Amino acid sequence: MTYAAITGWGKCMPPAVLTNADLATFLDTNDEWITSRTGIKERRISHVPLSDLAYVSTMRALACAGLDPADVELIVFGCCSYDDQVPNQASGLQAQLGAKKAASMDVNTACTSFLYSLSTAAALIRTGVVKNAVVVGGEIITAYMDWKNRGVAVLFGDGCASVVLQATDKEEGLLAEKLGCDSDARSTLVVEGMGCRYANQGRILGHTNWIFEGPEIFKRAVLGMSGACADVLEKRHLTADQIDLVIPHQANLRIIDATAKRLDMPMDRVIVTVDRHGNTSSGSVPLALDEAVRSGRVQRGQLVLLEAFGGGFTWG
Ligand code: ACO
Repeated sequence: MTYAAITGWGKCMPPAVLTNADLATFLDTNDEWITSRTGIKERRISHVPLSDLAYVSTMRALACAGLDPADVELIVFGCCSYDDQVPNQASGLQAQLGAKKAASMDVNTACTSFLYSLSTAAALIRTGVVKNAVVVGGEIITAYMDWKNRGVAVLFGDGCASVVLQATDKEEGLLAEKLGCDSDARSTLVVEGMGCRYANQGRILGHTNWIFEGPEIFKRAVLGMSGACADVLEKRHLTADQIDLVIPHQANLRIIDATAKRLDMPMDRVIVTVDRHGNTSSGSVPLALDEAVRSGRVQRGQLVLLEAFGGGFTWG
């Protein structure tokens, strides 16, 4: 049996920091509200395209894995804020890397794009289609932000991270996944202005209107993620106390907390980066994973549970 092991990881965060106090200079908001409702203190704003963030994070991940870009067989790029829709984001990364042998595709399931991409790449490794893959989760969501809407502008930030997957016959790497989509709730999160249906209407690209039903998303996020976690634990005949670390989607500290409670998981076994990154959409889980490994919180042989939710309404 072939497994897909994570052998490299890397991130790239743009240096410009936007604090809650900065936001309060042009929005009717304040640090106390943002911190108490979301746990977010600051987020990053990129001055370069997503392709540049992804190139740096991927070169770091490849160096970590000791894999030459020329030997990469697959690139799966999870994101919803592409530099270009055609040609895709992954082919741009292939060109920058010089990864001439790599098949290259984008996966868009909003904030769960990294988890869906990881699962896709792992499946292609398990079935022998490829021997290795680069999986990226990254976003420049601030390019599409409605900066007049305090209900969403305080929540998001930019960032990108990559991992390298390699085939192994050891039972390690991705052990079980559960992906799902609750499309009845797809109208709870819509970024009006991103997509072809808005073409030829005299709109300015990047000027968006977010339909964002915060409390409804909150409820469905907790249910979707805790259900998916329970499912993978059952698949592996595990209980929550056997999990060493949870790496959740970093949308809101209260969602992370509520999901951990439903799983009966103490918060000291949950990685939190939302305070410094905000919600980086598909960047969020791989960025938190990179930080967790670098800080020594993840050790070889440990069991790690990744969880996310996103527009669609997708979860994993
Ligand atoms: N600053 C100050 N006040 C604000 C702000 C702000 N930035 N935003 C909203 N408010 C006000 C509202 O106007 C409202 O005022 P009112 O009572 O006078 O009408 C009040 O605060 C409460 O608003 P609620 O929406 O009820 O606040 P809630 O406690 O639900 O928190 C939040 C809102 C943070 C959006 C929460 O619902 C949430 O986190 N939901 C999940 C959404 C999320 O994180 N999604 C992630 C993105 S989706 C994804 O990752 C794919």
